[in-house]
Amino acid sequence: MTDPALDAETLRERALTTLTTARARTTLLTSCVDEPDLTAQHSPLMSPLVWDLAHIGNQEEQWLLRAVAGRDAMRPEIDGLYDAFEHPRSERPSLPLLAPAEARAYASEVRGRVLDLLEGTAFHGTRLTEAGFAFGMIAQHEQQHDETMLITHQLRIGPQALTAPDPDPAPPFTGPSEVLVPGGPFTMGTSTEPWALDNERPAHRREVAPYWIDTTPVTNGAYRAFIDDGGYDDERWWTPDGWAHIRRHGIHAPLFWHRDGGQWLRRRFGVTEVVPPDEPVLHVSWFEADAYARWAGRRLPTEAEWEKAARHDPVSGRSTRYPWGDADPAPRHANLGQRHLRPAPAGSYPEGESPLGVRQLIGDVWEWTASDFLPYPGFQVFPYKEYSEVFFGPEYKVLRGGSFAVDEVACRGTFRNWDYPIRRQIFSGFRTARAAEGA
Ligand code: AVJ
Ligand code: FE
Repeated sequence: MTDPALDAETLRERALTTLTTARARTTLLTSCVDEPDLTAQHSPLMSPLVWDLAHIGNQEEQWLLRAVAGRDAMRPEIDGLYDAFEHPRSERPSLPLLAPAEARAYASEVRGRVLDLLEGTAFHGTRLTEAGFAFGMIAQHEQQHDETMLITHQLRIGPQALTAPDPDPAPPFTGPSEVLVPGGPFTMGTSTEPWALDNERPAHRREVAPYWIDTTPVTNGAYRAFIDDGGYDDERWWTPDGWAHIRRHGIHAPLFWHRDGGQWLRRRFGVTEVVPPDEPVLHVSWFEADAYARWAGRRLPTEAEWEKAARHDPVSGRSTRYPWGDADPAPRHANLGQRHLRPAPAGSYPEGESPLGVRQLIGDVWEWTASDFLPYPGFQVFPYKEYSEVFFGPEYKVLRGGSFAVDEVACRGTFRNWDYPIRRQIFSGFRTARAAEGA
């Protein structure tokens, strides 16, 4: 969405492409396993895959067919089943959910009607239709659930069901390990990105003191040094809550890792493999990221520091949409869209680096920040308070940048994700920062 004055045909095309891309992924994620695997709950943290499928259709029906087009509910009796706030994930398997064939038929019936609607939509008149916002929101919603479903696949115990080519191998990264970001104001958030969600708005000035930030996400090899140094047994590195949590649950390595003699192995989508030292660390909680940073004599970047590193162009003084500029992401910029089922080696994607030379801010791994999930000054709920507002507060930490599992439509320099600090089934990693001397 580079040009703010997009014409209706461009918007229609954009909406169609993103909805179609999302559905292709949803179809793959829900057809690569058999029926029992679709209806089973593979982890109490996750819904059965068949719940995600019908929930995707139900949200699409509610926002596009009912809110935008004013139609009646197709199946009013199922709304409650697929309302994420009525039933926590752990309860969902015991609900009278639509069976896989019914869920597929419902989602595709909704989609057929939505495509008819899209044909005749004028992209103005209401805030929901302005610049195709509701279509963009629904495409992002489906892509977010595609990431959620990929997490379910990662948690599922069983033979490999998904494959994808590995990212290109990269020569070991030999550039500087950290980058100095000058102090001063920058523009955080957006008021112009048409499909940005409410929590990314509005654009506002933020002052940050100068700081150093890691050029790349922290690697498995670096994280292993923390483990080998007894990091999980040394209370000094942990917040009190983090220490209590890892003790209570016997946590001593990232999720999916286990030690085998002298080496660390990990399980990744049904395959056990040696942990690759040069790849960004994945499946760590905020508590682990925070402890590692303290052990390294550093800290997590704040959300504002992360965004300034990703968007601030020191030449123009502007904030760009992405680290590489305003162009939509292409495969040469970032590891997005489940094209690969793992992060690329640290230092990959030189064409995606920021003007200051920070790499892999977008894609590969979600990056934990030091910050709580809070509204920006001037925040307004749109279009519903259960997307963002009900989550604002100190219980959630912000993650930035998107992972290999996120589609480009649901990821930008301003995009904000959030989760509890104990969570690590998500595709989460981090990079570290430190204040610049004499700041
Ligand atoms: C933004 C990823 C935290 O999955 O809970 C999906 C996205 N919101 N359906 C989530 C979302 C409603 C949300 N996160
Ligand atoms: Fe949802």
